[in-house]
Amino acid sequence: MRSEDRAGVRVITLDNPPVNALSFAYAAVLCPALDAAEADPAVRAVVLTGANGLFSGGADINDFTSDPGPGTLTIRDVIARVEQSAKTYVAAIEKTALGGGVELALACDYRIATAGTKLGFPEIKLGLLPGAGGTQRLPRLIGAQDALQLMLKGDNIDAGDALAKGLLDEVVPADALGAALALIARVAPSAPKRRVSARSTELGIKGLGLFATPFVVAQAHKMLPPEDNGGFAAHKLVDAVEASIELDFPRGLAREFRLFDELVRSAPSAALRHVFFAERELGKIPGMPPAQAKPIASAGIVGAGTMGTGIAICFANAGIPAVVIEPSDEQIERAKQMVFGMFAHQVQRGRMTQEEAWKRGQSIRFESDYAELAQADVVIEAVFESMDVKKTVFAKLDTICKPDAILASNTSTLDIDAMAAVTTRPAQVLGLHFFAPANIMKLLEIVRGNATSPETMATAIALGKTLRKVGVVSGNAFGFIGNRMLFDYAREAIQLAEEGIAPERIDRAMKNFGMAMGPFAMFDLSGLDVFWHIEQGRPDAMHGRTRIIDRLYREKRFGQKSGAGIYRYEKGSREPIPDPVTLELFREEAAKAGVAQGTVVTDDEIVKRLVDALVAVGNELLRTGIALRSGDIDIVYVYGYGFPPHRGGPMWYAEHAPKELVHA
Ligand code: 3HC
Ligand code: NAI
Repeated sequence: MRSEDRAGVRVITLDNPPVNALSFAYAAVLCPALDAAEADPAVRAVVLTGANGLFSGGADINDFTSDPGPGTLTIRDVIARVEQSAKTYVAAIEKTALGGGVELALACDYRIATAGTKLGFPEIKLGLLPGAGGTQRLPRLIGAQDALQLMLKGDNIDAGDALAKGLLDEVVPADALGAALALIARVAPSAPKRRVSARSTELGIKGLGLFATPFVVAQAHKMLPPEDNGGFAAHKLVDAVEASIELDFPRGLAREFRLFDELVRSAPSAALRHVFFAERELGKIPGMPPAQAKPIASAGIVGAGTMGTGIAICFANAGIPAVVIEPSDEQIERAKQMVFGMFAHQVQRGRMTQEEAWKRGQSIRFESDYAELAQADVVIEAVFESMDVKKTVFAKLDTICKPDAILASNTSTLDIDAMAAVTTRPAQVLGLHFFAPANIMKLLEIVRGNATSPETMATAIALGKTLRKVGVVSGNAFGFIGNRMLFDYAREAIQLAEEGIAPERIDRAMKNFGMAMGPFAMFDLSGLDVFWHIEQGRPDAMHGRTRIIDRLYREKRFGQKSGAGIYRYEKGSREPIPDPVTLELFREEAAKAGVAQGTVVTDDEIVKRLVDALVAVGNELLRTGIALRSGDIDIVYVYGYGFPPHRGGPMWYAEHAPKELVHA
């Protein structure tokens, strides 16, 4: 913490690297500083600002695992001092203010930020609610409706938006501290305090009076997922905002504290905090010598199919021009339509201006001549999943691309070392496994080959961040982390269905558990033909338990794309309809394999068997070093396979869920 006086104004700079978190320990530093400012008659006002290039990342998330214990000072004590102060407080905010950081600013009399600053309440993403007065002050400042929206979504807004909503008093191009000092010079020392706590909560719905409270609250509750499946914190958050409308400030604050304390001890919050920290571990590769990432200013992509085109859009969104090589004119036309359609959709939804969409579209070039890749810093191959085709492509790239270019493959299952071996630069070869649709899915598996250099890894990790992906490092093994586990999950789902449990019941159990979709709906979406082809190359992938896939493939039931797979589909619809034909096929295949039907299981047991299947492979991946940490596996499943984040990922769930549900 730094403290200095400027003509009767005490400037207190939050300085707790890396993100000025307002930890218990830091509250013990701040409280005496605020007490000293209060006691000093020469100080007429206090400016709070931040060092380390930001205001504050909020309360220290590490503190939530420990009870503060009696007498421990917390962020709430810091804020209470600001609230009770007789001096004028101004928050001078630069770059980032999140969670408790914004809550501290809300207790000040004025809030000034520099343009481009991001503000938000990410607590909900940690299974929490803003618990340092945010749920009581924000609705009083910007209205219950806007406050709920901001806090329930947990996304950041920029300073301009925050100003328009009334969260900020001023946005300046630069130098928030200078603007804060100028503001204090304009305000008469005798001017009354501008306490947000003294205001009453506006509902934020024009033309409706207080009677609308139950309506706003009931509507908010209705739109949320159930309390026991991902909505625990959200419902409590709405309860806290309701308290801001119905109770006076001190009682509302007490209600908020109680609800926060309940959440901080809850299983979903512990799981989500695990996901937060696991995500921050990802870029750290134990034992890897430190290396500098190389700048990536241009990209090449080979293949303008589903994946190549999606990857090109990722680069365009990150401001990196990309050349896509594709031999088929027809495919180029399709790819151009896909790019155009995607950007037009963004414009229609108001997410992008026409000019921006045009600029991004123009940054993707489709060509047929590989020579166009000569200057690219990185080239990603996304051609058919065939080792022969990929080897030909890598050999060609090696002769054409500049010597320091990185060559990557988007393969889902094939051996990166075999591709590296046909080049003269194996240290610059790795896998960059995007997930479909590549421009939407956050997960990126960064596959380290035997010879991949630390510099190539560092560059790939940095590139993943530039592309706004969650990059997980994987060893080079069949299916890497995600798909390798998926095959065993699929095998267990098939086993359950062969035992006589209807696919729709299995899917329902997994959806009720919180999965984005059940295993059989996933088969139909990805295409059973895709699984069939993988199985042809690697019959061990699903331990030979793929007779049903073989059967469905031979009957041309590929899934959604052919109108029938495990389920059937009405023309033009993606709604899965349970199909007695599939049940019969499972029965026949079970009989052939001597699998007895009629297993009786609860939904919890279905979940347990499927999660156990994931965990067994996960443990194997850890044992063999393919996955670096169990948290990495959790991140792969949360970001790539729709595993519910409030359950922490399969590995975390297996360790922390009630023991009667999951094997150790
Ligand atoms: N508490 C503890 N550690 C934090 C933290 C926090 N609130 N925010 C970030 N960190 C740590 C990270 O774990 C990481 O540690 P490491 O270097 O040891 O791995 C380090 O700070 C840097 O974080 P990032 O790698 O994420 O740095 P970026 O520059 O990319 O992002 C950030 C900075 C935008 C602040 C981002 O870290 C972030 O979003 N942090 C979380 C913010 C948050 O959730 N705040 C709410 C906290 S809960 C709260 O305030 C409760 C209150 O209502 C009572
Ligand atoms: P796709 O079949 O849609 O596209 C492949 C494209 O590559 C076609 O347009 C084809 O004309 C082109 N192509 C073939 N040989 C070429 C060559 N020598 N030079 C230039 N272009 C060539 O395939 P898709 O689905 O995009 O998959 C590509 C790769 O991505 C595969 O390795 C696949 O396993 C992987 N992948 C696919 C995912 C998916 O869900 N579709 C997900 C993740 C990875």
